[in-house]
Amino acid sequence: MENKIHAQITGIGAYVPDYILDNEELSRLVDTSDEWIMSRVGIKERHILKGTGKGASVMGAKAVDQLLEKTGVSPDEIDLVICTTVTPDHLFPSTASIVAYESKLKNAWAFDLLGACSGFLYGIETARSFIESGRYKKVVLVSAEKMSSITNYEDRTTCPLFGDAGTAVLLEPTSEEIGVLDADLHTDGMGKPYLYRKAGGSAHPAHAKEVANIDHYIYQEGRFVFKHAVSKMAGVSVGMMKKHNLTPETLAWLVPHQANLRIIDATAHHMNLPPEKVMINIERYGNTTSATIPLCLWEWEKQLKKGDDLILSAFGAGFTWGAVYVKWAYDS
Ligand code: UT7
Repeated sequence: MENKIHAQITGIGAYVPDYILDNEELSRLVDTSDEWIMSRVGIKERHILKGTGKGASVMGAKAVDQLLEKTGVSPDEIDLVICTTVTPDHLFPSTASIVAYESKLKNAWAFDLLGACSGFLYGIETARSFIESGRYKKVVLVSAEKMSSITNYEDRTTCPLFGDAGTAVLLEPTSEEIGVLDADLHTDGMGKPYLYRKAGGSAHPAHAKEVANIDHYIYQEGRFVFKHAVSKMAGVSVGMMKKHNLTPETLAWLVPHQANLRIIDATAHHMNLPPEKVMINIERYGNTTSATIPLCLWEWEKQLKKGDDLILSAFGAGFTWGAVYVKWAYDS
């Protein structure tokens, strides 16, 4: 019998801008403190992309360039680029097409995918389907978010939370029983009023009135989102463990979306996982939306071993949420 094709992650690149916005600087912008932000969210600093006319694609393209250099893959070999983002450079053309152009991926077709904070998981499942079809050999999944472009630095309830980053992951086929092995993804649509950007889309274009009302920035009812994030992320992650007979002993890593340290801790607690099996870097980057999970994988890459069982888990606007089961494919 012919072996099934699986999609394996074969490399990761990332780029975070140089400028660091720390809690001390934020405390001068709004009525907040390092103590409040650290105890309620767990963030110390976030990276911000400065400079006029620079969109998310700048970080996405730098991440792709690093990925290609690290893996030794030539730009001509890439078949497809998928870019997850809630902060596209423009509503059109796609940010994926701009990244493909900037990184000279001449033989790839490219499109954007919007799954908010669950975007990386949605992107992984999409890329996996293209690879498993047998028709695509090298798919690049870019996650590029310039959250600072939609953050109101006069709103203390949202401005401490978000940061900017770009990541790029390469997916390729394998006949081994490794790679992206399962995904359990959800969308319910009821979450819109609790976490969204009111203006700037076709329902409410960002005209002078919308801008005056500050409707072109992120709006969030944090407490409501928090409750749902904990129950959904924990539920789907525990479900994935049970389905694949993974135990706190056999699971190598939980790779959670980094929105709030308390959400991460609660998810790990429900999974009975000790802290040393949970990837956490929220303190240094904040919430970079769809880039949080690949940013963790990039930082922990050297510690990952072929055959390690990982659960990636996220929750975000929509609401969207899910868990992905990955058997890591390579030793660094
Ligand atoms: O990634 C996509 C999904 N998003 C999430 O998962 C985020 C989920 N939500 C959260 O992480 C948390 O709800 C927040 C971090 C956004 C807020 O934390 P919280 O513990 O839920 O605080 P809260 O909104 O209940 O506010 C508590 C108090 C309020 O004051 P009063 O009404 O009790 O007097 C706020 O005005 O804290 C106040 N507050 C602040 N104080 C100092 C809110 N923001 C700040 C601030 N500094 N930055």
